[in-house]
Amino acid sequence: MRWIRDRKTSVTSHLPVDEDTHRQSQLRAEYLRVESEIHFAAQSSVVDGFWRTFEANAWYEDGLATLKNQGFRNTQNFIDAYDAAVREATSLNLDPHIRWRAHIFESFLRSAKPGTRLELGTAHGFMFKFALTKHKLDGCLDLGSEIILVDKFSQNSVDPVSGELLDQMNVRYANDIQAVKSTFQAFPNVRVEQGDVPEVLSSLDLKTISFLHLDLNAANPEAEALEQLWPKLIPGAFVLLDDYGFLEFLPSQIAHDRLASRFGKSICLLPTGQGLLIK
Ligand SMILES: C[S@@+](CC[C@H](N)C(=O)[O-])C[C@H]1O[C@@H](n2cnc3c(N)ncnc32)[C@H](O)[C@@H]1O
Repeated sequence: MRWIRDRKTSVTSHLPVDEDTHRQSQLRAEYLRVESEIHFAAQSSVVDGFWRTFEANAWYEDGLATLKNQGFRNTQNFIDAYDAAVREATSLNLDPHIRWRAHIFESFLRSAKPGTRLELGTAHGFMFKFALTKHKLDGCLDLGSEIILVDKFSQNSVDPVSGELLDQMNVRYANDIQAVKSTFQAFPNVRVEQGDVPEVLSSLDLKTISFLHLDLNAANPEAEALEQLWPKLIPGAFVLLDDYGFLEFLPSQIAHDRLASRFGKSICLLPTGQGLLIK
């Protein structure tokens, strides 16, 4: 999708030219088919015009190409908070290109009821750094609810199903808990804890949880954690599952769906790939 611009980076394709051109024409054909059905009374030149608008103006980021208005990403507070997270809560100061996911995370965190906010899988703390900085800039920072950030703090990758440690390293993960603590020093209600999920949970002295962010990139430890924590989640608590809709984490989706149905709940798949479960 070489033709779509993120407006910060120009997207270049890694596909061979022939295959790339073929994919682009398939996409165009699919676009025209769908839009012609929606605008069944319109002439084909009008529908062609829609395509040109899409081609010229669509945003691409994080697996999403859309014409939808993303006004949130242009506000100065969003830009400043996101830049702060890139600068202070990534391994290499590289933009992870997850603005819409970050927006959703921040919005649900802001609306969560009083109670503990818990994240399992923090790495450098990108999401919380972004959200808390944004809340501070917006004048709505909640210092009354404790925030607990948990990670194993090693750069070993994990098996996407079992969660077992692999020899392969992931440079995006964090190995220095002290550095992560100092990233959050301006937020006295944040506690950073090191340990393996789910084993570490019993040592955290968890009371009522109103917001749970699961981002371990591993199905089994996430599902075990959710099962263990369910009684501590208050009614109306938000559970945001970062990996839920990503193809490579299909086992996570299956495990969480199975669990949710045992709880008499269902998980909403958001277009960003996040899953949202409300207790
Ligand atoms: C995708 S990263 C988290 C990103 C983070 N939420 C953010 O906002 O940048 C996944 C993290 O989960 C951690 N992790 C994976 N399995 C774990 C486990 N069983 N216990 C504790 N941490 C684990 C990894 O060390 C890694 O830092």
